[in-house]
Amino acid sequence: MEKVAMTENHQNRLTEDIALIDEALNAFLSGDDPLTQVVFDAMRYSMTAGGKRLRPVLTLEFCRALGGDLKKALPFACAVEMIHCYSLIHDDLPCMDDDDLRRGKPSCHIQFGEANALLAGDGLLTLAFQTLGESPLTHGSDPKAALAAVGILSRRAGVEGMIGGQVIDLESEGKPVKEPVLHRLHSLKTSALIQAACEMGAAAAGAEDSYQKLAADFGLYLGLAFQIIDDILDVIGDERSLGKPVGSDQENQKTTYASLMGIEESKQLAREYTGRAEECLRTIPDSDFLRGLTEQLLSRRY
Ligand code: IPE
Ligand code: IPE
Ligand code: MG
Ligand code: MG
Ligand code: MG
Repeated sequence: MEKVAMTENHQNRLTEDIALIDEALNAFLSGDDPLTQVVFDAMRYSMTAGGKRLRPVLTLEFCRALGGDLKKALPFACAVEMIHCYSLIHDDLPCMDDDDLRRGKPSCHIQFGEANALLAGDGLLTLAFQTLGESPLTHGSDPKAALAAVGILSRRAGVEGMIGGQVIDLESEGKPVKEPVLHRLHSLKTSALIQAACEMGAAAAGAEDSYQKLAADFGLYLGLAFQIIDDILDVIGDERSLGKPVGSDQENQKTTYASLMGIEESKQLAREYTGRAEECLRTIPDSDFLRGLTEQLLSRRY
């Protein structure tokens, strides 16, 4: 399939999407009760520390590509970024990957202490569903889409999704892991939330089931490529551009594609999954932006 690079227009659109998402996220994080301030501060700290905003951008752009209204997709986009950010806060805790740097700043637990980091993660997880429950769609024009989003996000973020992947990831530390297990681990810990992002975009657009299925398949393959690149960057990337420590996987004795098959073969596999993801976009009406973004992620340095 022909590769599509991101044009200048697409880059501008990406910047606009991120600005829209950041503005909406800030509005959701405006608690001002002095007694609970510390946890709000921790949530805001991690949420506004940067980050590529890949998942919420996918929600907006799937909605747009399927002819939907971005305003409908925005609360869904914020909800998936909240879940992602909570997963990063918990992922860095000493009981998990024990990493001190995230998004270029001291990890949440380094800045606010372990208990507050735990609660900030819990707070973001809960806020995600509050955001869906209180979305204008829930009470107004499209309760069906909002209800669909709750179902999608809870399943993909839960034990059958991201949390399940984190369990396998931790249980596998220091043990020999075969490729099928690694595939399942990556599909759950990383693809699941990316799938949710795409599926919720399709739900916001009121897309029919066949497009929902394409969104899920696209998210699966993009997520697999994304995690393989993440694992490669943990070996050959640099801390400054990544904004997180390198060598964390080796230190925690994680099996990754990079450790299992080497860097070159892993890059090849990421290329293959990227191709499969792009293939899923073929029948999606206005998918040039998504194709360009998918291609660009393959050569990311952060
Ligand atoms: C990091 O995700 C965790 C993985 C699933 C690899 P991102 O690389 O999307 O992190 P941010 O949001 O840009 O910080
Ligand atoms: C994390 O995978 C996936 C999550 C669910 C957070 P990693 O542990 O490889 O992510 P990084 O490298 O810390 O961002
Ligand atoms: Mg981890
Ligand atoms: Mg980690
Ligand atoms: Mg990693």
